[in-house]
Amino acid sequence: MNEKQHAIVIAGGGSTYTAGIVMMLLENRDRLPLRKLKLYDNDAARQEVIAKAIAIELQEKAPEVEFEYTTDPQVAFTDVDFCFAHIRSGGYKMRELDEKIPLKHHVVGQETCGPGGIAYGMRSIGDIIELIDYMEQYSPECWMLNYSNPASIVAEACRQLRPDSKILNICDMPVGTQRRMSQIIGLSPKDLEVRYFGMNHFGWWTSVKDKAGHEYLPQIRDYVAEHGYLTQIEVDIQHMDASWQATHKKAQDLLAVDPHRLPNTYLKYYLYPDYVVEHSDPNYTRANEVEDGREKRVFSAARKIIDAKTSKVGEFAIDSHASFIVDLACAIAYNTHERMLMIVENNGAIANIDPDIMVEVPCIVGNNGPEPLTQGKIPLFQRGMIMEQAMVEKLVVQAWVNHSYQSLWQALTLSKTVPSAEVAKAVLDDLIAANQEYWPELK
Ligand code: NAD
Ligand code: LMR
Repeated sequence: MNEKQHAIVIAGGGSTYTAGIVMMLLENRDRLPLRKLKLYDNDAARQEVIAKAIAIELQEKAPEVEFEYTTDPQVAFTDVDFCFAHIRSGGYKMRELDEKIPLKHHVVGQETCGPGGIAYGMRSIGDIIELIDYMEQYSPECWMLNYSNPASIVAEACRQLRPDSKILNICDMPVGTQRRMSQIIGLSPKDLEVRYFGMNHFGWWTSVKDKAGHEYLPQIRDYVAEHGYLTQIEVDIQHMDASWQATHKKAQDLLAVDPHRLPNTYLKYYLYPDYVVEHSDPNYTRANEVEDGREKRVFSAARKIIDAKTSKVGEFAIDSHASFIVDLACAIAYNTHERMLMIVENNGAIANIDPDIMVEVPCIVGNNGPEPLTQGKIPLFQRGMIMEQAMVEKLVVQAWVNHSYQSLWQALTLSKTVPSAEVAKAVLDDLIAANQEYWPELK
């Protein structure tokens, strides 16, 4: 049992993931003892539903943990050791437009990839910087563990705009896929030790070993060549909807492009954009699937608990999203030196790409944060793709900082998901009209 009791604020208290994370925190109090939990959101009504259900959960399972929820940043960020952040700037309403506007132009419409991700990035940068500033003002020793998307663009913005801040940008997708890999080879996810290189939602595994050093990559590769990452028993409950099943299956075509490395599922938007567009319904996208699925499930579970005044009537699910963030908090709090995939400044971790790119690589995590493990030189194909995508993301940050239409048009034009500068301009002009409330005014 660890001694220090921690205070945690969850920013984006009304998120569909908040309840799962709280459940995970409650289950892991022997590893990460908790004295105080706060929720913070800028949408009081949305947060209240989740918060009232959590208050009942806490009363029954951990009455000693102090709990409050607020929309006041000073109340939220005072006296906290960790901020777990997962905000969605603009909500599902804007996610839907990020997906549907590009599709109208026969371009990939996705939350974090292509023009949709760029639009979301232009909304998220300012909100994340604001959270960092609140944290540093009210709890200067606090660490922010940030899931808010698009993680890669957000990480590049933090690198440029808040280089010394204690923010770690993280992603659960590799964790989810590694759960699938562990199922394929009959091990537990915690037994895997991987090598991986790339950027967020844009990377490849080059080794998957057990703790004894046995290499499983060839075995997993043979399986993925036939089934993608689809597995018999679902161990990655977060990525189960119909659209995700199609994405796991599509990994077999991603693998065909480079049969020596195991691909991140999000590469499908860059390697098969025409296929993605053909198989998208422009009137019903992932935003709608989440609203009809996860969002309904989580909010109706919360309302059931509130109406019954007891948590015995319902269960909030714990997924890989929640377990990863608790593991990371423990690594920082107790200097565990756990090996985890993190988004960090390259600085030579990948030898033959620029040092100032935010890459995703295995790191050893301790109380000073992540120390990247070098991944050596990467092949021409991945190097070309990564350099192109990195420049897209740098152009987005440049556009946000300088309020530059030209930079953002260049970003869309350079994206592998967009066929020409003309299409990029048409998509951009529609995105500008939709995002007036959120983006800086572009000149
Ligand atoms: P959601 O809309 O259900 O929750 C987000 C919450 O953030 C909402 O309650 C909203 O009101 C709040 N919010 C928005 N802007 C805010 C601001 N400026 N300050 C405070 N609160 C604010 O969304 P969700 O589906 O639960 O996803 C939450 C976030 O987690 C998204 O950014 C999503 O992309 C991200 N996510 C990341 C990963 C990852 O691995 N990196 C995986 C899944 C989801
Ligand atoms: C979400 O559900 O919003 C993210 O986990 C990504 C996705 O589209 O499923």
